[in-house]
Amino acid sequence: MTNDCVENHTTLAYLSHLLQASQTRNVILSQDVFTLDGRQLAAQGEKFDHTLCGLMQDAELSRPVVELVAIESVFDAASLLGAFDIWIQKDPGLKELAQRFPHDKLLQNYCESLCQFAQIRQYLTLLAIQLPEVFEQALFCAWMGVLIVESESRDTNDACDMFFAGLCHDLGKLWLPPDLVCSSKPYRADERKTMQGHCELGREMLNAIKRFPTRVSRAVWEHHENLDGTGYPLGRLSAMISRHGQMLNALDCLQAIYVKRYKPASRTLFDLVAVLRMNGHGRFGAQGKRLIAVLSELPENSARCVPDEQMPGFIDTVRDRHSYITSCVDSVNLLATEIGFRHNDPRLFALQNTIIHISVAISQSGLINDAYVRWLKQVESELLVHAYREVEDAFLLMLEILYHLEKLKQKIRAILHEGVADEFVSQLEKGIESLDTIQYSQTEGELESLWLLKAI
Ligand SMILES: [Fe+2]
Repeated sequence: MTNDCVENHTTLAYLSHLLQASQTRNVILSQDVFTLDGRQLAAQGEKFDHTLCGLMQDAELSRPVVELVAIESVFDAASLLGAFDIWIQKDPGLKELAQRFPHDKLLQNYCESLCQFAQIRQYLTLLAIQLPEVFEQALFCAWMGVLIVESESRDTNDACDMFFAGLCHDLGKLWLPPDLVCSSKPYRADERKTMQGHCELGREMLNAIKRFPTRVSRAVWEHHENLDGTGYPLGRLSAMISRHGQMLNALDCLQAIYVKRYKPASRTLFDLVAVLRMNGHGRFGAQGKRLIAVLSELPENSARCVPDEQMPGFIDTVRDRHSYITSCVDSVNLLATEIGFRHNDPRLFALQNTIIHISVAISQSGLINDAYVRWLKQVESELLVHAYREVEDAFLLMLEILYHLEKLKQKIRAILHEGVADEFVSQLEKGIESLDTIQYSQTEGELESLWLLKAI
């Protein structure tokens, strides 16, 4: 795709987001709109509506859209700071952390610095309207990032960069079509590839802003790179990923785990320490250690989410998932061995690293092993209520492994879709076929009401 095509494609997507946003918020033209050849399309002050959106989508515009439109009640420093406050007040875990590590003054300064960039104010406003969950993830990364960096670094620029990077890390999604980014359906391989483009688009968006720090746009570009080379867009290894890029990656993953699985299971931010330890070796490295140091300061939590009467059925499910994980790991280990290491394909190395990471995470979990599953018999027969929370914990850690196994399957399919040397095609096809034949039992009866069993 040429740069012009990319620009046109991103302009269409951004205009579509603006049109959807205009259903709930006034959007007007902030200046006259001209085409590249000097023809006036519309005048300043006109309401941005369906017709105007169509006209602008069909034309080559003389200026970037972000400079041509204005969204009503666009963020300023005070309202952006207010958004942090509203978000923190909604979550007792965040409130607790905010009380222990107050950094309001710093946040205020950083909000003021960031809001000097008019484009960023519009991008964040549009993100909050169009992709509220992504916006909350951005708040988490910025807020937590400042807290972690500030607790260690004497350089305030470091914390400020982290704040900018956290808030801006997913802005590239606004340059992808709303139908794609707002879709709740699982992505096809080609759609996933397009979505992965948001890192590069985010970097371009930020680099197009005068005087915006390039350290930040680099971290945004790298926020899906994993330390072991299994990430995207470049599959970089740890030494090549900036410190802020690494932190962003860790925070982004952590927020998803917290919101999707831990918070609904009555777990607090403190409980994330277990999942950080399990993943620490290959996934989060030094950043994981910094996060553990801060989160360990929080009070322990003993809340549970599975009612006692449902525990026998739940224990059966834990056993079933353990058996599923064991079979999958046997299958992928065989695949990794068959592929061998006498190839030059970085995607296959990344795949093999993912397989190693899964095995290491399982052994570090301390709860996903045959001995623990044998212990469950006693927990069940003697109704050991004091051990019930740990059973839930084991299941939550298993969910993390199930997530990585799903990602692994996606990676195998993506490699086959993109094309790979003939000698590996049948091995990968056999591998995915073998994984697809391994299934876990579907939840039945009263257990169906447990959302925990639906969360991966
Ligand atoms: Fe992202």
